[in-house]
Amino acid sequence: MRKGSRKDSQVKNILCIGAGYVGGPSMAVLADRSPDKKVTVVDVHAGKIRAWKGANLPIFEPGLDKIVKRTRGKNLFFSTDIPGEIKKADMIFVCVNTPTKAFGHGAGYASDMQYVEKTARMILQHARSETIVVEKSTVPVRTAQAIERILRSGATEGKQIEVLSNPEFLAEGTAVRDLEEPDRVLIGSRETRSGKKARRALADVYEQWVDRERIVETNTWSSELSKLTANAFLAQRISSINSISALCEKTGANIEEVSRAIGMDERIGQKFLRAGVGFGGSCFQKDILSLVYLCRSYGLNEVADYWESVVGINEYQKRRFVQNIIEHMFHTVTDKRIAVLGFAFKPDTGDTREAPAVYICKRLLEEGARLSITDPKALENARTDLEGIDQDVTYERNVYKAAKGAHALLVLTEWKEYQALDFQRIFKGMEKPAFVFDGRNLLDPAVLAKIGFHVVPVGKQEKGTFPLIDRSES
Ligand code: UDX
Ligand code: UDX
Repeated sequence: MRKGSRKDSQVKNILCIGAGYVGGPSMAVLADRSPDKKVTVVDVHAGKIRAWKGANLPIFEPGLDKIVKRTRGKNLFFSTDIPGEIKKADMIFVCVNTPTKAFGHGAGYASDMQYVEKTARMILQHARSETIVVEKSTVPVRTAQAIERILRSGATEGKQIEVLSNPEFLAEGTAVRDLEEPDRVLIGSRETRSGKKARRALADVYEQWVDRERIVETNTWSSELSKLTANAFLAQRISSINSISALCEKTGANIEEVSRAIGMDERIGQKFLRAGVGFGGSCFQKDILSLVYLCRSYGLNEVADYWESVVGINEYQKRRFVQNIIEHMFHTVTDKRIAVLGFAFKPDTGDTREAPAVYICKRLLEEGARLSITDPKALENARTDLEGIDQDVTYERNVYKAAKGAHALLVLTEWKEYQALDFQRIFKGMEKPAFVFDGRNLLDPAVLAKIGFHVVPVGKQEKGTFPLIDRSES
């Protein structure tokens, strides 16, 4: 239910710095739900801003085009004039990226804060007094304090800038729904009068479409830490179920039956219990590593080890999947054509950041396999990810073409449309024995085995004529 504005808030001009997967959709929904606000999104990447203004948005997200079409030019604007827009803003959301540091101190763990810092300095230079800065990028705990220090270094100019933490919990593929009907909106501030006032101003913005009870106000550090913890807990569930999937394969238990059985316990719940090739995406690994770094920097080595093992199991699951392929295919994939169905880190997105497919494809190429990769939305990103090592890769829009002449199919993303494929036709065109390694347990092994495939799912019995481990009678 759309709600009207409850309060005539002081905040009229909202700016977002960073037009990526987080900034773009969040601001589109904000503009749509707050017609009285002017929302502008800026980015250093001029090509991205051009795309946001054009017919083909730079990211694919179900339902997003419609919202952008109805708000763009009315109260949603895109621009590259960052200083000019900062000057006009009452509230500035910071949505720039914070990747894992690839160099120097903390490399491989710590978040790279250079973009956040550059953005803070630009805000200090150009913002008016009383501007509210909202940290939306996922950042290490106590980052708001660092931003605030930079912003307060302009105190001599009489600027009063308040920094809030307002982490984003949207998941790709369901971003629009997650933004329109969030489980909660978290707002952290300093517990001072001006901090609470700024927090209230942001809560007023959200209250235009989110129920008051769902808006959680905390101190800044709790807010920052809650985001890292939420992602760590979600990822931990996946690593937990994936670890049990390995045991299922050895014992003849079925991971889907186990997931269902444990998920019926209300205390455990059914979500995030799908075993697969491991989690991907721009957040889980980065945020856990950031948490690990944080714990180590406080000397909490046991806590750090605990969370690091969640990433360890994820790596293991990907390695195990490749190992399984090689073992089943008579210990060699050299010169064999393998069709990869799905490259995105999850369905309904073209995003391939940290996608398990990147690791799996690289490993198979090292083993001398020839790959034909297909994905409804992620082919361009796949090309970029494998650039320089893709002499033996073809990128195919058409799944039937990708599968032609292949020794094996790998399902790495659970696109729904793969369930509707004519597998009889695919089987005919493949080399025999024809293997299916279903890394997402998307397909029905019994149906495929009947056609003649040898099917290797995750955490379940394999089905077909070449079982390495067959426990069908046990
Ligand atoms: C990113 C982080 O990965 C995530 O942890 C955080 O919660 C939000 O920001 P995402 O939106 O998915 O998430 O990143 P991305 O799609 O890379 O978008 C960031 C945008 O910021 C890019 O378009 C980039 O060009 C822009 N940017 C980056 C700036 O405008 N200025 C900078 O200084 C740096
Ligand atoms: C995640 C969080 O869900 C979101 O709240 C946060 O803001 C950003 O990070 P996202 O990475 O977009 O969102 O997608 P998500 O649905 O969480 O999936 C992440 C990965 O976990 C995907 O690779 C997915 O395939 C995998 N996954 C998810 C599983 O392997 N099994 C599951 O049961 C669920």
